[in-house]
Amino acid sequence: MTAGVDELQRYLEAMGIVLWREGRPGAGSVAAASPEPAPPAAGPADAADVLEGLDWDALAERVAHCTRCELHQTRSRTVFGVGNRTADWLVVGEAPGAEEDRRGEPFVGRAGQLLDAMLRAIDLDRQKVYIANVLKCRPPNNRDPRPEEVAACEPYLRRQIELIQPKIILAVGRIAAQNLLKTQQPLGRLRGRVHDYQGIPLVVTYHPAYLLRAPAEKRKAWQDLLLARQVVREAD
Ligand code: URA
Repeated sequence: MTAGVDELQRYLEAMGIVLWREGRPGAGSVAAASPEPAPPAAGPADAADVLEGLDWDALAERVAHCTRCELHQTRSRTVFGVGNRTADWLVVGEAPGAEEDRRGEPFVGRAGQLLDAMLRAIDLDRQKVYIANVLKCRPPNNRDPRPEEVAACEPYLRRQIELIQPKIILAVGRIAAQNLLKTQQPLGRLRGRVHDYQGIPLVVTYHPAYLLRAPAEKRKAWQDLLLARQVVREAD
């Protein structure tokens, strides 16, 4: 896994890290980067069977009317996912936040802007990748997803993954990583290696919301992106 100094520099600058350079004012600082009837609702137990074989439109329709867990009572909109449905890269986050719940699109708040910058640094964007979350509905007050919510929602993401067949899954943040990999290991232990999600390579990195609070970790996130890119290149 090799990357040029220029490439690293472009990444760090896009991520809001100002590198020290001879003669540059302020160098050395580290800055934060900145009226159809609804289809019948299914219960959690039959979720996977019911989704088997569904195409994108039918799947999206199911999600839009989903009542499998109590989050449907407090959501404004479901957040299905966005991007290229035949993408090599699938980015999986945790759950919609307030802005995503309002707009129905994942990662559109501040963390989303940082995710966009991370993707740009490896010549990707929202049109080239697919972005989804473990949960399709916002947990109130952005609390962590509950196990029963994850279990109820999981078949949707699994069907999306079957349809996309990505070359890499990038799990961003602890919640996405632990739920996809069915482990309780901390994120720090899950980074830096290639995991397997039902035959698809999976790389773990920090959640951009965390990187906004801990900008010094952006360098490690860069290593994670390079590892994921190497996996995709090797698959080509
Ligand atoms: N955080 C996530 O994990 N997902 C989003 O869509 C937004 C913020």
